[in-house]
Amino acid sequence: MATKEKPRTIADLPGVGPSIANKLVAAGFPTIEALAVARPEDISQRAGIPLTTATRIVQAARRALDIRFKTAREIKLERLSVRKITTGSKNLDDLLGGGIETKTITEFYGEFGSGKTQICHQLSVNVQLPPERGGLAGKAAYIDTEGTFRWERIESMARALGLDPDEVMDNILYQRAYNSDHQMAIVEELFTLVPRENIKLVIVDSVTSHFRAEYVGRENLAPRQQKLNQHLHQLLRLAEAYNIAVVITNQVMARPDVFFGNPMQAVGGHVLYHIPGVRVELRKSKGNKRIARVVDAPHLPEGEAVFVITEEGIRDPED
Ligand code: GTP
Ligand code: MG
Repeated sequence: MATKEKPRTIADLPGVGPSIANKLVAAGFPTIEALAVARPEDISQRAGIPLTTATRIVQAARRALDIRFKTAREIKLERLSVRKITTGSKNLDDLLGGGIETKTITEFYGEFGSGKTQICHQLSVNVQLPPERGGLAGKAAYIDTEGTFRWERIESMARALGLDPDEVMDNILYQRAYNSDHQMAIVEELFTLVPRENIKLVIVDSVTSHFRAEYVGRENLAPRQQKLNQHLHQLLRLAEAYNIAVVITNQVMARPDVFFGNPMQAVGGHVLYHIPGVRVELRKSKGNKRIARVVDAPHLPEGEAVFVITEEGIRDPED
């Protein structure tokens, strides 16, 4: 696949130099996605560039994202290439239609202690399993924004699966992200690293914390969402281009309604509003039990799955 040469930012599009790129950003078209679905007339008027240039840019953006008519058979083939990673819990796998899918973003959201980080650890181990054991025989890239990654946990999860802990840890490429720009820069770097290192899973735990800390207050909600969307599109493109799984987490309040009138309310739900992906809500239950629910996924069965967090990792409850 010639994905490496594909444009990733608007400045990479043919016909867009730095000066036009600046005009496009200022006019509210900061991403290839935004350009691909815009009307050339609007771009031309708002960015003050000739209509013919705007038309060419829209065409280039659509080509870059492969937005075109496809045959039903092409759709079928695209779908057939999707692979799945087991979560360690059969219940949770069934809820997700077999596991965490490649070519898509899966968001786990829920309150503190609901198991988001534990699932991320487990998936970083499980992705390394051979396909017959529910893995993709690949490495994981782990972007940690909160400093909650624990190698000790990886060691015990690996042991529990009969894998060599050192080898498993060698196959998890870890990086702490210190702010939202750094977080986005790391993802850019992954476009080169993923194919070179045979990475099959990218984790961002959590995807939202830096954005929330940096864009405080109601007046910053719109720019924050815009930047976050840019980040999510970047991740989605990574997932699609290399047929890998991307897993993000997002901490939310247990009861956002309690915060009515507070700006935090706007971040009370999942972040994948306008981006295709799978959203999984996690809730705490008794003891080490956790409940997962898939939200607005027409292709997945409705319902909930119960799993437990044990010493060995994510598993099904015994009773
Ligand atoms: P925030 O990041 O604070 O939003 O929470 P989270 O959703 O990431 O929660 P996390 O995945 O960290 O889950 C924490 C829960 O996992 C704890 O409440 C523990 O019950 C369990 N847990 C974490 N580490 C271990 C461990 O080493 N052994 C066992 N048995 N359970 C653990
Ligand atoms: Mg966490």
